[in-house]
Amino acid sequence: MRYKAKPHTTRAFNEALRNSGGQGTVMEFGVRWGRSFVWFAQQLSIRYPKCRLMGFDSWKGLPEETKGIPVHRKHAPGRFREHRIHTEIALNDLGIFTKRVSLIDGWFSDTLTDSLKGKVKTPLLFVHLDCDLYISTIQVLRWIDSLLSSGTILVFDDLKKPENSGWGQRKALNEWMVETKWKCEVHEHKKIYMVT
Ligand SMILES: C[S@@+](CC[C@H](N)C(=O)[O-])C[C@H]1O[C@@H](n2cnc3c(N)ncnc32)[C@H](O)[C@@H]1O
Repeated sequence: MRYKAKPHTTRAFNEALRNSGGQGTVMEFGVRWGRSFVWFAQQLSIRYPKCRLMGFDSWKGLPEETKGIPVHRKHAPGRFREHRIHTEIALNDLGIFTKRVSLIDGWFSDTLTDSLKGKVKTPLLFVHLDCDLYISTIQVLRWIDSLLSSGTILVFDDLKKPENSGWGQRKALNEWMVETKWKCEVHEHKKIYMVT
């Protein structure tokens, strides 16, 4: 397995971390077999050893989308199911499964609690939302809302075009933008948003 993030994600990650002063947290929602998560962990271990990394996954694949919201066939319940052990082994083999790197197991609806929020080392620098569905993305955005600060970068891996506003990550982003006090500017690439 080659551990890497997509080019636009890599650029956004580097920018968020470069401007961080070396402290804070990176989060990924949707780890699967760790292709991008292990890459983030490698970067932190080499260049930003004081930053923390948190990965969230059910390890059961995708949940069912909210009723009434269209969903692509490739996003059926259970899709992308992968055992946590693959990511764990990769991190251990590379010697980078340190106490600054954590995997939080379970459905976001169970794991994204106020008590966990209290343990996050702010600022939240960079968030990779690779969880595909509306239901998962809106849960994440509502949870991270109070952890955000000016300069946090959000990358949506599966953001539909603006005209497809009725489903997926685009629907979640649109709804959250109405609810939140934060403004976001589109940043360099159409799937990247910087909180302002
Ligand atoms: C496209 S995969 C992630 C790919 C991964 N970033 C990589 O680079 O290999 C989506 C992942 O999101 C997880 N996921 C989606 N919605 C979730 C939810 N509500 N709770 C927990 N995990 C979820 C799935 O289990 C799946 O592993």
